[in-house]
Amino acid sequence: MPRTILHIDSSITGSQSVTRRLTAEIVNRISAPDTEMLYRDVTTGVPAIDGDWFAAVRQTPKSPSAAQQALVNVSDALIDEIRRADTLVIGLPVYNFSVPAQLKNWLDQIARAGVTFRYSEAGPEGLLTGKRAIIAMASGGTPAESPVDFAWPYLRHMLGFVGITDVTLVAADRMAIDAKAAEHSAQEAIAALAA
Ligand SMILES: Cc1cc2nc3c(=O)[nH]c(=O)nc-3n(C[C@H](O)[C@H](O)[C@H](O)COP(=O)(O)O)c2cc1C
Repeated sequence: MPRTILHIDSSITGSQSVTRRLTAEIVNRISAPDTEMLYRDVTTGVPAIDGDWFAAVRQTPKSPSAAQQALVNVSDALIDEIRRADTLVIGLPVYNFSVPAQLKNWLDQIARAGVTFRYSEAGPEGLLTGKRAIIAMASGGTPAESPVDFAWPYLRHMLGFVGITDVTLVAADRMAIDAKAAEHSAQEAIAALAA
């Protein structure tokens, strides 16, 4: 049983969201009464990175200004949530063949050189190791893992880049084409998850 789950949603469709429902079902399936829950809705207030942000994270820990420290604090808090969790459950709606912009913002905030990854002679090394991630993906017509799926392979790669390599996909893909089949395969994948 996970000790701490970080539950992340990124759908913009509110109560209609397929991925929000699936992440909740996954959390319900794998958690125990004593599991600590952390929740992050990336559609509410994960800022996009910009030039000020990049200058700030490069400056730390040397002598950041108060404004720079405030930018770094946002990123640090998001990274700290991941560090505290042993399991991540992430909702992945496919929007325009890729990840939601807000989920990209979260990935940009947590990909920090020297903090969550580093380069060595052996190549890049992810530093957020020893965690498991379960991804609840939903799409209208894009088949998961097809040549036009730029969402799941990208998210899997980014998680691996920061050291999270134990990643499981729960896919309700092609909902607009065959909703019943999509729901069935997602439910089978949830039932197969180790608690
Ligand atoms: C803005 C937007 C863009 C979308 N783009 C795609 C797409 O490129 N490919 C696809 O298969 N479905 C696309 N869809 C359909 C969603 O993937 C589908 O509705 C899915 O259920 C989204 O997850 P959610 O219900 O949790 O928001 C799009 C939906 C929206 C709202």
